[in-house]
Amino acid sequence: MKCNISQDVTAAAELLHNGELVAFATETVYGLGANALNPEAVARIFEVKQRPHFDPLIVHIATPEQLSEFTTGLSAPAQRLAERFWPGPLTLVLPKRNVIPDLVTSGLDSVAIRIPAHPIAWELLQVTGLPIAAPSANKFGCLSPTLAQHVVEQLGDEIPMILEGGPCQVGVESTVIQCTEESTILLRPGGIALEEIESCVETVRLARIEDFAETKSQVSPGMLPRHYAPGTRLFLIEKLEQLPTAESIGVLSLYPLEETILSGREFAAQEILSPSGNLKTAAAKLFSALRNLDQASVECIVALRMPETGLGRTINNRLERAAY
Ligand code: TXA
Ligand code: MG
Repeated sequence: MKCNISQDVTAAAELLHNGELVAFATETVYGLGANALNPEAVARIFEVKQRPHFDPLIVHIATPEQLSEFTTGLSAPAQRLAERFWPGPLTLVLPKRNVIPDLVTSGLDSVAIRIPAHPIAWELLQVTGLPIAAPSANKFGCLSPTLAQHVVEQLGDEIPMILEGGPCQVGVESTVIQCTEESTILLRPGGIALEEIESCVETVRLARIEDFAETKSQVSPGMLPRHYAPGTRLFLIEKLEQLPTAESIGVLSLYPLEETILSGREFAAQEILSPSGNLKTAAAKLFSALRNLDQASVECIVALRMPETGLGRTINNRLERAAY
């Protein structure tokens, strides 16, 4: 299949209405979209991604007015989060209505919903008038795409079109939150920092594996120990003294490494995420930097842990999964 890369929203909308898949830019990562109300189109997402069926998808919508079609309602804290962070990199897990096919939610009685902020994603949602189910547009377990070219490399032969929207500004996936009247659970750290969520709702609990035992469902790949991984072995270290011995190393760090530490060591490749220590900039560069190191033919990649604050927490979460 020849994959068409363009900004033609009308063409993309037509493909979606015909039950085809379209990859599209969002502010977080590129998504692999299908009409969420068409189970056959949704099934194709799982097939193309080689994604296990126990892993539910996010449904993207254009406006809060559409919420009542797909969910039975928002708790008061969920409402506050929606007002504050939508459109944007927030996904809310809400009680679902029956129109959403079971395939989308892996049989759960909840549905994950997001209103994206990227203008081209938003326009696509407007023009189709459809809810669009979309996971990240990569093969299951691999690095997420933050450029159209990344999508071409992994899925280019299998989908008809990529709706191009430039490099993703946030660069890491959305923050996934399950929020009832009683509790707010962070299922996946993402593009909105925990501190920002905490400024809006009272106590936020971090998800634990036990939370999912009774649903028998793996509700967040963020919870899978290995995910978001490059092909090259990756080590996550706290400080440079812990560097493994290897012939050739690719290093990923927030700041440039000090000369004293560099002296006497050969680094075959190096990616610096933000010399000024800006964690938003770092998140935006993360997946491209990991791809570059993966393609640098090094024996291993060594990532230095980021500060455990703001989006540093999200980056560390992705690096932990990549290192497992
Ligand atoms: O930024 C993003 O969220 C991107 C863009 C394309 O929107 N999408 C994305 O989708 O990262 P995906 O499929 O890679 O991750 C979806 C996450 C998973 O952790 C999944 O388990 C969780 O959302 N999820 C989906 N439905 C859920 C549900 N009903 N209950 C709990 N978690 C759910
Ligand atoms: Mg993903």
